[in-house]
Amino acid sequence: MSSDQSGALAGAAVPSPGLNAEAGDAAENFVQIVDIVKKFGETAAVKGVNLSVKKGELFALLGSSGCGKSTLLRMLAGLESITSGKILIDGEDLAQLPPYRRPVNMMFQSYALFPHMTVEANVAFGLKQEGVPKSELKDRVQTALDLVQMGRFAKRKPHQLSGGQQQRVALARSLVKRPKLLLLDEPMSALDKQIRQRTQIELVNILDKVGVTCMMVTHDQEEAMTMADRLAVMSEGEIIQLGTPHEVYEYPNSRFSAEFIGSTNLFDGNVVEDEPDHVFIETPDLPVRLYVSHGITGPLGMPVTISVRPERIALTRKPPEGAYNWGKGVVTNIAYMGGYSLYHVKLDAGKTVIANVTSLALTEIDPPTWGDEVYVRWSASAGVVLTS
Ligand SMILES: Nc1ncnc2c1ncn2[C@@H]1O[C@H](COP(=O)(O)OP(=O)(O)OP(=O)(O)O)[C@@H](O)[C@H]1O
Ligand SMILES: [Mg+2]
Repeated sequence: MSSDQSGALAGAAVPSPGLNAEAGDAAENFVQIVDIVKKFGETAAVKGVNLSVKKGELFALLGSSGCGKSTLLRMLAGLESITSGKILIDGEDLAQLPPYRRPVNMMFQSYALFPHMTVEANVAFGLKQEGVPKSELKDRVQTALDLVQMGRFAKRKPHQLSGGQQQRVALARSLVKRPKLLLLDEPMSALDKQIRQRTQIELVNILDKVGVTCMMVTHDQEEAMTMADRLAVMSEGEIIQLGTPHEVYEYPNSRFSAEFIGSTNLFDGNVVEDEPDHVFIETPDLPVRLYVSHGITGPLGMPVTISVRPERIALTRKPPEGAYNWGKGVVTNIAYMGGYSLYHVKLDAGKTVIANVTSLALTEIDPPTWGDEVYVRWSASAGVVLTS
C-alpha cells in the first residue's frame, strides 16, 4: 500500500484500523525471514532463523567466521536454494519470483568490478542487460555516480581508483538498479582501517538518502555498531540476540553476546538473595558480594554470570566503603589509548579485571602504575546478570 492510500484512509470519516494496521505491518515486516534452514549435505549452515527487517532500515548480521551470515544473505539474493522455510520481501514470496523479477541486489564480499570497463560502463552494465533505454540509462548512471561522489571519475578504469573509490563504484552499480532490498556482504573488507571508518559513515549517509532497505553482513562488531539501526548476533547458524546496537551492548542476553559485542568482565557466582528490584550474588572472585539493581527469575543458589563493562569500573587507591561490588588487586598492565587507558588489575583471588579509565579520571587519583595496589569498584546499575 502506498503512503497516499494510507493517508486517504487516515482521513476517512470512519477510520479503518484493520487496514491501517496492515500498512504499518507491511513497513515493520518489509523483509520477513521465516524458519529458514540451509543444509549442505548433513551439516546445517543456517538453523531455523526468524527475522523481520523494517522498511528503510539498515540491518546488520554479525558473527564469527563460518556462522552462516553469507549463506543467509545468499538465500535472500536467490543465489542459494532454501532447504526449508520462506522469505517474503514487501509481501512477495521470493520462491514465487523468477530471478530477474526479484527486487534484490547484492554487493559481494569481493566486489569485483569489470577491469576493462570504465566506471561508467561498470555502473551501466546491469541496466543495459535489462534493456533500459539509452537516454534513461545515461541519467540513471549519472545520478548513481553523483550520489557516491564519483561523477568526476566516470571515464576512469577501476585500476586508476583507490580502494575506497572502487567500493563506491560498486555501491553505485548496486543502487542504480533501484532494488527494494540491498544486500551487502562485508562491504568494507577490501579497505584498510582508516578509509573503512570514513566509508562507513559515507555509506550510511548514502543509504539514508536513497532510503533503501539494507541488510549487511560483517564480522566487525564496531562496523555493525556504527552503521546499523538494528543487528543480529549469530553463532553456528542461529541468532543469539537481536536488537539495536545500544540494547545489545547494554543488555546482552548471554555470555556469547556480551563477549562478542565489545569487551567485558565476567564474574561467575551464585544467587544468594533475589528480590524484584535487586539481586545479591556470591562470587569466589571478590571479597564482597555482587549487587545488581535488577531482579532475575530463577531459584536461590542458581549459577549466574555477571557482566560488567570496563568503562563502568572505577579505579581507586583507597579501599571502597561499600559492602559490595569491589575488589583489591595489583596493576599488571596499562594500555595507553590516548583519551583513556585500559588498566589490567589482577585481583587477590586471581581474576584479572579490565578497567577503562579516562585520562580525566586518572588525573584525579594520582595515576597508578605497574605493580601498584589498587581497588576496582562499580555501581549496582553497572552489572548485567547472564543466565546463559
Ligand atoms: N557451498 C557450500 N558447501 C558446503 N558447505 C558450505 C558451502 N557454503 C558454505 N558452507 C559452510 O556453511 C557454513 C557457513 O558459511 P558462511 O559462508 O555462511 O559463513 P560466514 O558467516 O559468511 O563466514 P565468514 O565470516 O568467514 O564469511 C560454513 O561452515 C561453511 O563451511
Ligand atoms: Mg561470509
